[in-house]
Amino acid sequence: MLEFHTAGESHGPAIITLIRGLPANLEVDIPFINRELSRRQSGFGSGGRMKIEKDEVEILGGVRWGKTLGGPVVFEVKNRDYENWSTLMDPRGSAPSSYEEITIPRPGHADLGGMVKYRFSDLRNVIERASARETVGKCVAGAVAKVFLRHFGVKVGGFVESIGEISAQEEMSWEEKISRAESSPLHTYDPEREKEMIELIEKVGEEGDTLGGTFVVVAQGVVPGLGSYGEIQERLDSQLAFFLMGIPGIKGVEVGEGFRSATLRGSQFHDEIFYDSRRLPFPFYRQTFRSGGVEGGISVGDIMWVRCAMKPIPTLRRGLMSVDVREKKAVSARFERSDICAVPRAMVVGEAMLAWVLAAAYRKKFGGDSMEEIEAYFKDYLDYLESFHSLEDGEK
Ligand SMILES: Cc1cc2nc3c(=O)[nH]c(=O)nc-3n(C[C@H](O)[C@H](O)[C@H](O)COP(=O)(O)O)c2cc1C
Repeated sequence: MLEFHTAGESHGPAIITLIRGLPANLEVDIPFINRELSRRQSGFGSGGRMKIEKDEVEILGGVRWGKTLGGPVVFEVKNRDYENWSTLMDPRGSAPSSYEEITIPRPGHADLGGMVKYRFSDLRNVIERASARETVGKCVAGAVAKVFLRHFGVKVGGFVESIGEISAQEEMSWEEKISRAESSPLHTYDPEREKEMIELIEKVGEEGDTLGGTFVVVAQGVVPGLGSYGEIQERLDSQLAFFLMGIPGIKGVEVGEGFRSATLRGSQFHDEIFYDSRRLPFPFYRQTFRSGGVEGGISVGDIMWVRCAMKPIPTLRRGLMSVDVREKKAVSARFERSDICAVPRAMVVGEAMLAWVLAAAYRKKFGGDSMEEIEAYFKDYLDYLESFHSLEDGEK
């Protein structure tokens, strides 16, 4: 079973990612992990922090000479801002005499719930772990998953579809959308709409307000037969919903055209099945992927995609109404350096989580203790898929 855990606070010493269940002999591509971390930091609409920190990963255990050893692997990304917070976030010290607790919760953030739940009088204790800084750890896990998936020919990408009420509109292939998004400041693919989105973010920022939006993440080159209808934990759509909804700020996840499916006839929605003996490895294929590439909790093969809706950022310069929980007085919620719109960055985290779900599914299906074993089992499965070619395809 492939698992990851993260630890660490936003302004603490570091964000840690611990991954269990990786096979031995997987190369750990540090430059690639760092590139993914810098993608997470990019995107128009981000707050000041992205400018002061450049995330870089270090390995604390589980890897020797660039390859995994089969045990748990631990990564660390230092919080460079910690040097400015070393007293306030010191794991050993105590509160300085001048310290003032934070007692005004922001609507839309974890503040009030976290305070009540853990019996904290100081909201700082909630803010620090609930912060989306934790998504650094998710991106490290996702980057490792992407490296693992390369061995099976799977590529994961994504693009922003909408910011606030403005949606990208140009029609083009997945490949083109993903490749255009790579070089776009908003990680989107329609340059005309992008200008409008940027103007909207600037305008909303000036008003002291924030924005949400939607993004799509896509995997290409997926084999059919991953996941299972057998149990809720095994369904790929359950796993996708779990990991993508687990990204802070994500309030809607649909596998393929999930919500639109409710308005369509069966004949308009379901992806018809075709056979072509020239297609390798599997001759059965779909021309459409409205199902998101998952049926009965199982991958249909080729494409898998998910759309996510992100709510507007809860920390507004123009503070919303709140209550000081110590004074019991109505006040404006406090502002702390914050993004205006984080949809482009959340999209990168979404890619990480899609890659993670798929890596876990490949790991489960192909077993083994080392990359060599997994690749041998995978090759055996490809041979099996090719056996669906009919005898008349005898050239094979
Ligand atoms: C990449 C990313 C960046 C975010 N940046 C901020 C931010 O700067 N300020 C903020 O208040 N919320 C930010 N959020 C959203 C909050 O973390 C999130 O709304 C909060 O943790 C409450 O969780 P919930 O929205 O899932 O209920 C960000 C989310 C992501 C994925």
